[in-house]
Amino acid sequence: MSVPDQSSRLPGFYSQALAERGRTVAAWARLSAAQLAALDGSGGLTPDQADHMIENVVGVHALPLGVAANFLVNGRDVLVPMAIEEPSVVAGASFMAKLARAGGGFFAHASEPHMIGQLQIVEVVDVHSARIRLLENKARLLELANQVDPVLIKFGGGARDLEVRVIEQSPIGAFLAAHLIYDTRDAMGANAINTACETLAPAIEQISGGRVHLRILSNLADRRLARARCAIPVEALAFDQYSGEWVRDGIVAAYAFAAADPYRAATHNKGVMNGIDAVVIATGNDWRAIEAGAHAYAARSGRYTSLSTWAVDGAGALAGTLELPMAVGIVGGATRVHPTAQAALALMGVTTARALAEVIVSVGLAQNLAALRALATEGIQRGHMSLHARQVAIAAGAKGARVEQVAGRMVAEKSVRIDRAEAILAELEAESRKP
Ligand code: MEV
Repeated sequence: MSVPDQSSRLPGFYSQALAERGRTVAAWARLSAAQLAALDGSGGLTPDQADHMIENVVGVHALPLGVAANFLVNGRDVLVPMAIEEPSVVAGASFMAKLARAGGGFFAHASEPHMIGQLQIVEVVDVHSARIRLLENKARLLELANQVDPVLIKFGGGARDLEVRVIEQSPIGAFLAAHLIYDTRDAMGANAINTACETLAPAIEQISGGRVHLRILSNLADRRLARARCAIPVEALAFDQYSGEWVRDGIVAAYAFAAADPYRAATHNKGVMNGIDAVVIATGNDWRAIEAGAHAYAARSGRYTSLSTWAVDGAGALAGTLELPMAVGIVGGATRVHPTAQAALALMGVTTARALAEVIVSVGLAQNLAALRALATEGIQRGHMSLHARQVAIAAGAKGARVEQVAGRMVAEKSVRIDRAEAILAELEAESRKP
């Protein structure tokens, strides 16, 4: 757990040696030696543990795990673990979180953890009267759904509502879609909701006179939304030759492109998801579920658009918002069995699924800001270049200090290519062999 009044501003963290960074965050969050080992790669998921998670296991797959600094979410300092292979994402999130602090950081709110379970009811003689009969029996059906998971009920979760929609037109004609609204508390809840849907099916068939076909949760979890906002004072946006006003207005114009055009919105939202997925993966959550929900939500009006908004507020600050479904949990599934996911949650000091969702949506907003700020000013390549160059240098076979040397030369030459990296590496090696 983070210590109250401890700042997530970690000056110099970036330039610390790898092992020192691990020690810094472990001390910051008072992690145990085992938790630190799970983060720094000396511990973590074993092949034996993995063997119990999926089928045909032959090993485990690693990703870089970075920690984003500077985040202030609802007045609480938080260090954010991010598992991602793409350069610039962790640095971008950290930098934007630093700018956002000038406006009080991120203010985030997650709704109740209400999942939607769907039952497709086909072969119904009169869909409209069947719908009403199902609604008449709502109390009985909810009670039945509540018998599925006594543990969830004990923790305050369970069935909340039943809605029934008539799908008038489809390739198989009219049918009914029943939605079970189910509070899954601190679990992502896929198993609980799917079991509840399967349990309800016979009663629903009996009441509707139809046949229940599919029984599965919806990833368009629009009853489980996470929202964040931030306001960056215009002075905080100025850098190099760019005035704060120029950067602010450029970001608003960049947002307008995504708001109006699906081709741009897809890339804009991909930038949001760079931040979101990295935390979702670090915490052992189902990032495909989050991706599916995000993009379906972005298209909810019938036209795919931006998940975020950017505008100038009354004080002239750059005001951003982000809202999307956030079905993440802190108990059950991989969050429980994966030691790195456990350590990642401990690092963040989140003790509820809602608190985790609030951090994640804040990171998404920060990441979107990082991308738009770069795109609206110097372009994305400058920042990407040096990190990309390091990856190319490693791919060419550079090791240790050679990585920086090769990368530095390629950036200076503005030519980041594998053949160039190999040539520079060969030159350096030849030079070092000279007496
Ligand atoms: C790259 O991973 C993400 C961006 O393309 C996002 C954007 O264009 O807004 C930079």
